[in-house]
Amino acid sequence: MDDCLILEETESTNSVAEGLARDGALHGFAVLAKKQTGGRGRLGRFWVSPGGLGLYCTIILRPNLELIDYPKLTLAAGVAVAEALAGLGVITDLKWPNDIFIAGRKCGGILVESSALEEESANNYALVGIGLNVNTTAVDFDKLSHQAISLRQACGGKIFNIDEIFSVIRKAILAEVCELERHGFARILDRWQRYDLLRGRRARWLRNDGVVVEGLAEGIDDQGQLLVRTDDGVIHPVISGDVNLVQHGSTK
Ligand code: BTN
Repeated sequence: MDDCLILEETESTNSVAEGLARDGALHGFAVLAKKQTGGRGRLGRFWVSPGGLGLYCTIILRPNLELIDYPKLTLAAGVAVAEALAGLGVITDLKWPNDIFIAGRKCGGILVESSALEEESANNYALVGIGLNVNTTAVDFDKLSHQAISLRQACGGKIFNIDEIFSVIRKAILAEVCELERHGFARILDRWQRYDLLRGRRARWLRNDGVVVEGLAEGIDDQGQLLVRTDDGVIHPVISGDVNLVQHGSTK
């Protein structure tokens, strides 16, 4: 594959891809690692990336979109991953904005990072980093085993081919970017709703300023923001931050 860099081990495929994108790597070029030593998640979290057991990849995008629309790439990538996995017989849910869930436990996440978005530039890019627990078992998750799940665990011990999953996911993401460029966000949003884990359920949102807001999740608006209706009837559009389901007094 000459449009792909495959590494045995790296700190983070997003970091490698960032360097390549700055040096002019083309739309669709991907970095795939067998193992990451410093995999990054959203909000500064660590992404556990044991060798040979998961998918750790980053796809470089140079979408023909306004910079203001780049955040929609996270949701577009989520739909692409969910539909690609459905094609492999794995049914997932999407938790806004970037989590992939199976049976209430997290099996994957998407980290979209972009070049400085202050000004239009010929070298603008977005990096779509995807981490997926594929053949991992409870031992590999260690302390996270009650919250995390792999495709293997979800599918009765079946071992999946990680390279095949990478290929179908990359293809699906590139197709989704074309859809976004040609037809806008509306149809992607429609498809996203089918996988929406939060809609109609109580959610607790930790705002970036530390304030906790609790209410009913009412879906996603046409900008990709989550709508949370608090008990006073006010609808809060959530742009960023951490949102979790409220379940019998606890959160997920
Ligand atoms: C999240 O759930 O917070 C997003 C996790 C994204 C992890 C992937 S693994 C491949 C790519 N490289 C990284 O350092 N992070 C992403």
